[in-house]
Amino acid sequence: MKRIPVIAGNWKMYKTKDEALAFIYAVNQDLPAKEKVETVICAPSIFLRDLVKRQGEELGIGAQNMHYLDQGAYTGELSALMLKSYGVKYVVIGHSERRAYYNETDETVNLKLKKAIAEEITPIVCCGESLDIREAGTTNDFVKVQVEAAYQDVSKEEALKTILAYEPIWAIGTGKTATPEQANDTIKAIRGVLASIYDQETADQVRILYGGSVKPANVDELLATSDIDGALIGGASLQADSFLTLANAALKK
Ligand code: 13P
Repeated sequence: MKRIPVIAGNWKMYKTKDEALAFIYAVNQDLPAKEKVETVICAPSIFLRDLVKRQGEELGIGAQNMHYLDQGAYTGELSALMLKSYGVKYVVIGHSERRAYYNETDETVNLKLKKAIAEEITPIVCCGESLDIREAGTTNDFVKVQVEAAYQDVSKEEALKTILAYEPIWAIGTGKTATPEQANDTIKAIRGVLASIYDQETADQVRILYGGSVKPANVDELLATSDIDGALIGGASLQADSFLTLANAALKK
């Protein structure tokens, strides 16, 4: 079963409106066909409407977070319904920065995942360990807990609509990439967790991305592995030429 690779940019809190628009115009013509590589930009929410309007045929637009409730007195939050009504097709859930700074927990990740699927928004569900955990040799146990919690009460059919991203915290924004072997081994272990929750066939269909200092210089070796199905990219997704290089590299997958 061939898994279509995913190249997703996470812009975090970068860019102005003009820069965001310039990026979209610069990449639109040269992105691979979405049947071959799914490309996504997860942008700050204020840009989402403008980006959706100009996204072209191949690119999908995603948010970086959402609330798990439909509405309510939650100042500063966005609901899945709001995102859906603007044509936003993806959402990053459980990024380590949100877990570290905004109180995201395994429980809220699970609630958000279920809500996103219910509103037909593809969740990109993040997991990943700190350096202490990596050095203690307990990475696989740690991500297993995160993944099992995220997929609690999620059916097999729903799980097939999700994308996972393994992002070791020590590799994010540090220039320190996990080696292809490290990333692939952990992603294999994550696939094993999905197989134990569901079955091997389901595990074999879910796309699992690697994130953490992915750039044009290292994307080929990461994507050459058996289980890494694409990348979630921060810094190197901000420039159009670099994002295009990463997206087109996935054509070789
Ligand atoms: P960098 O690619 O900047 O390391 O960021 C990775 C990331 O956090 C993507 O979500």
